[in-house]
Amino acid sequence: MIFNVLTLFPEMINEAVSHSIMGRGIRSGHISVNCVNIRDFAINKHGQVDDSPYGGGAGMVMMAPPVYDAYKSIVGEGTSPPVIYLSPQGRVLTQKIAEEIAALPEIILLCGHYEGLDERIIEEIVTEEISIGDYVLTGGEPAAIVLMDAVSRLVPGVLGKADSYKDESFSDGLLEYPHYTRPPEFRGRMVPEVLTSGHHSNIEKWRQEQSLARTKVKRPDLIV
Ligand code: ADE
Repeated sequence: MIFNVLTLFPEMINEAVSHSIMGRGIRSGHISVNCVNIRDFAINKHGQVDDSPYGGGAGMVMMAPPVYDAYKSIVGEGTSPPVIYLSPQGRVLTQKIAEEIAALPEIILLCGHYEGLDERIIEEIVTEEISIGDYVLTGGEPAAIVLMDAVSRLVPGVLGKADSYKDESFSDGLLEYPHYTRPPEFRGRMVPEVLTSGHHSNIEKWRQEQSLARTKVKRPDLIV
């Protein structure tokens, strides 16, 4: 899967995706992250990409032309992959949305800054707005990183074992059961006996009960 990222801070993106599972996914060729620096398409030699808002008010607004030219540098005259604008006004990202996005071969992520983007660039190129939660970030980059992380691990081949995400929180609508590893006792806390019993069907049953019980307590809203 190809993630194109239109951003004023490509270093932020490239650094974040170079580690851990995403870094490995990139090196193995299962995903690729292509940052385009919007400042390379500034309107003048001072690198200007923003201006004060028409109608007055605080802050600066990112200008439409540099964003459009950055976008065109990816798509040329051909058809465009979906363009997702990271914004608190978007649909809130869920596991289901991450799964939908992971089924696409290529997307373009647009990261805004300052007070936002000139509305006309949103009208012109954006297919969908996505938020990562009901709070306001200083820019779209952390949100793009979160989205790429949640999506890449669903791209076949990115995680080691093909189905190692199947048991996880949200993949079946419930939270994940608790995990334990050595030592068997930690500061007086024991590993639940069933896990060391070697009785696979009891372990499976216990895990399902734990999943349901913690979802009821921690996230009752997930149980409809
Ligand atoms: N940009 C600023 N805040 C954001 C949020 N909550 N989600 C996505 N993009 C954003």
